[in-house]
Amino acid sequence: MARRSALALAWICLALPRCIRAAGKHAHKEYQQVALPHHSFSIPLEYSSLLGDWMLSGASIFERQRLLLHPGVLERQGFAWTKRPLQTNNFEVKFGFRVSGSADISKAPQDQSFSFWFVRENVSDHFNETRMIRAPSWTEGLKEQGYTLGGSQALFEGVGAVFSTVTADKKPNAAISFVSNDKHQSLSYGVDVPAASAKVIDFRNKKEVEFNLRVQPTLVQASITVDGTTQECFSVDRKGFPVKAGGYIGFTAWSGAGEGKVPDSVSLTKVEVVNFDDEAIGEDVVGASAAEISEYTAMMSSDSRHFQDQKSQTDHLARVTKMLSSHLNEVKPAYDVMAFQMSGMMDSLHKLDRDCRILSKELRLLASDPKARKRGPKRPSNLQELKGHVVGLRRLLDKEASAHMHKLEAVQKNLNDVKQQTDKASGSSMLGRIVDQTRTLEQSVVAKSSQSTWMLFILVVSVVVIGALMWNRMQYYERKHFI
Ligand SMILES: *[C@@H]1O[C@H](CO)[C@@H](O)[C@H](O)[C@H]1NC(C)=O
Ligand SMILES: *[C@@H]1O[C@H](CO)[C@@H](O)[C@H](O)[C@H]1NC(C)=O
Repeated sequence: MARRSALALAWICLALPRCIRAAGKHAHKEYQQVALPHHSFSIPLEYSSLLGDWMLSGASIFERQRLLLHPGVLERQGFAWTKRPLQTNNFEVKFGFRVSGSADISKAPQDQSFSFWFVRENVSDHFNETRMIRAPSWTEGLKEQGYTLGGSQALFEGVGAVFSTVTADKKPNAAISFVSNDKHQSLSYGVDVPAASAKVIDFRNKKEVEFNLRVQPTLVQASITVDGTTQECFSVDRKGFPVKAGGYIGFTAWSGAGEGKVPDSVSLTKVEVVNFDDEAIGEDVVGASAAEISEYTAMMSSDSRHFQDQKSQTDHLARVTKMLSSHLNEVKPAYDVMAFQMSGMMDSLHKLDRDCRILSKELRLLASDPKARKRGPKRPSNLQELKGHVVGLRRLLDKEASAHMHKLEAVQKNLNDVKQQTDKASGSSMLGRIVDQTRTLEQSVVAKSSQSTWMLFILVVSVVVIGALMWNRMQYYERKHFI
């Protein structure tokens, strides 16, 4: 639902500029770019939703701060492919990456590389992970399936950029090659790739590296920005073999093999894909009905590209308005539910706030009760101690688990004392339970120090209960005193 709405919004963003542009005399460049969210990601990564759009295999995993293609371990494949095709052949891909390893590049395996691809085949569907895992080694598992070109298929139709640690003459150097294939022959690593025309650019162990690939039907250009300096990598004329729309983008890597070699770890920090073709939808609309899709497509077609008169402009605007209002209608119920849940949460927060205030007031009252002081020093001192511990605990909860333990023991002892004292007056099962609770709490501190927020909460609750009990006892004493 939310996803669908987001898509509808993306659509509207896409359709509106067209209207504005059509209405104006001059096309503005930035209106021509449409971001493609199902082919992009940036940190912090939400892998639960990303896994719907991307298929990972081999040693690749989504982490909060990066997509790790492979760690610095020999004979590992990196594999990350989008599951839906890019419906355009006029786009730009920007990705940030980190290749970190030994400062001495000659220590890196010769066959280590990572690559960006734009190919015709749905590689996530083609690749059989089970087969690779069942093979005696990853190398063999990949070979069986023809994934011998830096973790990707050697026989493919499409283009790619390969980042290698050797040049075509096998000299250790970080280099970037343009690679293309029309599915007529298998390319082999070490022969066809790295290309002789590869550009030597040191992209290893850098703070910030961004690669920029601009694909147009008849021209593929790339540049790289390393720590603020931009250099061109390649510019390839594709008039002979125009790039076709409908390819899949993906990243693969092979950490390489070799005795005594230390492979790099390779990760991506962001991928940003932008469509430049204002007549193509760019990526599939997930969750939209067939009617909606045809409506969107009609809006994008060249018929609605030029408006003959003001009436057709008005019609187009009316269609966009209609889409917007139906989008709003669709979103409204979801919004209402959200608002309802939010107000419930606010109520709970207010209640918590109120309870805390009451508790602190009660504690203050108990501590400064002159009658209680007259009766002897025991109770107020106990209260003061308890208060001190609560404050101390709050501070401690932010520190190490061992420190937590120590303090909790003290509190437990204190609570035991209180229990003994009150037990003398009357049997209180409540306090017994609290003591047990603190013990459980102590165990959970040992188990998981990261749950400190929860513990604080439980502590606050325990203290509220103690406060209430104390209050009761006070009342009881007061009554006894006056009667
Ligand atoms: C590509 O393959 C993946 C994995 O099998 C699948 O989920 C996806 O639907 C396929 N894409 C298309 C457009 O068929
Ligand atoms: C993948 O390979 C395994 C083992 O060779 C095989 O049993 C399985 O059917 C294959 N899966 C697909 C989807 O082809």
